[in-house]
Amino acid sequence: MSLIEVKDLGVRFQTSDGPVYAVNGIEFNLDRGQTLGIVGESGSGKSQSVLAMMGLLAQNGRASGQALYAGQDLLAMKTSELNRIRGNRVAMIFQDPMTSLNPYLTVERQMTEVLQFHKRMSRKAARKRSVELLDAVKIPDAARRITMYPHEFSGGMRQRVMIAMALLCEPEVLIADEPTTALDVTVQAQILGLLRDLQRDFGTAIVLITHDLGVVAGLCDQVMVLYGGRVMEQGSAPDIFYRASHPYTVGLLGAVPRLDQDDAELVAIPGAPPNMARLPRGCPFSERCPLADAYCTDVMPLLEPAAPGSTAQRACHRSVQEVATMHEVKVVHV
Ligand SMILES: Nc1ncnc2c1ncn2[C@@H]1O[C@H](COP(=O)(O)OP(=O)(O)OP(=O)(O)O)[C@@H](O)[C@H]1O
Ligand SMILES: [Mg+2]
Repeated sequence: MSLIEVKDLGVRFQTSDGPVYAVNGIEFNLDRGQTLGIVGESGSGKSQSVLAMMGLLAQNGRASGQALYAGQDLLAMKTSELNRIRGNRVAMIFQDPMTSLNPYLTVERQMTEVLQFHKRMSRKAARKRSVELLDAVKIPDAARRITMYPHEFSGGMRQRVMIAMALLCEPEVLIADEPTTALDVTVQAQILGLLRDLQRDFGTAIVLITHDLGVVAGLCDQVMVLYGGRVMEQGSAPDIFYRASHPYTVGLLGAVPRLDQDDAELVAIPGAPPNMARLPRGCPFSERCPLADAYCTDVMPLLEPAAPGSTAQRACHRSVQEVATMHEVKVVHV
């Protein structure tokens, strides 16, 4: 049994325009110490997938399917049961640290309260542990800084504080929703390095959400590529980076800056992410796909193994050979 087993996860929102199917049929398993990257453009369903798992959907949202943590279905739990797991065994960090840090309380107060609540620690023990964790995320002079308010930290430092908070109870699973998007490239690299170190030291399983395939390259074991609320392609990091077999993944790879090609031209995917309320009947990417025909727009492709015996899965009517010609075109292009 994997630590996390997500089966046929769906999210539906009720709106005045009718239902919006934001997430459809997502499946993955995650083991201790492993990292899954969830990648896709804005609106593809990345955040709603994990918010559904954590019981944090908006009022008008309903989750379906199963999200098993250690064999227990998070989606079927009462709030009181979920509260014993959230922030404790499964923790989440967000793009904007101020969504999880309280601006009116010192970092010390916020950190010690978590330990007092979940671990029944004394104030003194909780303070000691909190300082250790701020040290672990490389906050200089942690014993002094812990008495500060969140706004007294720089953006990158606040992100570190939030990571330290998420790690307070040594969660088995850490869900990081665009943890570095708001940061400059150097700080971004430092934070990602930090996540990798923490994973090595604590054995934490990580779900890392990003719109940037480049971010997941160094960190993820598995990658899931979402578009229009559906999985386009899913597999090991090498499957996705070296043997991408979906036109959307190839497009995303074209938009990733490559360190080994200084003068390479970035090829963005033409067009904009879809309107979720007006998706085509068939493949959601068909409107922007250079290989799509009328059949693609009409008939939803199933998620199937990319090749017999392959660990990678793809949802595309075009053959893997056809998609491979896109790589070649791109190579000529750069
Ligand atoms: N409360 C809501 N009511 C209706 N639709 C919603 C609601 N919340 C989210 N959605 C829709 O669900 C879809 C998926 O949203 P989600 O937040 O998962 O996107 P995302 O992939 O995380 O994008 P981003 O990169 O911008 O964070 C979007 O089309 C969004 O408009
Ligand atoms: Mg999001």
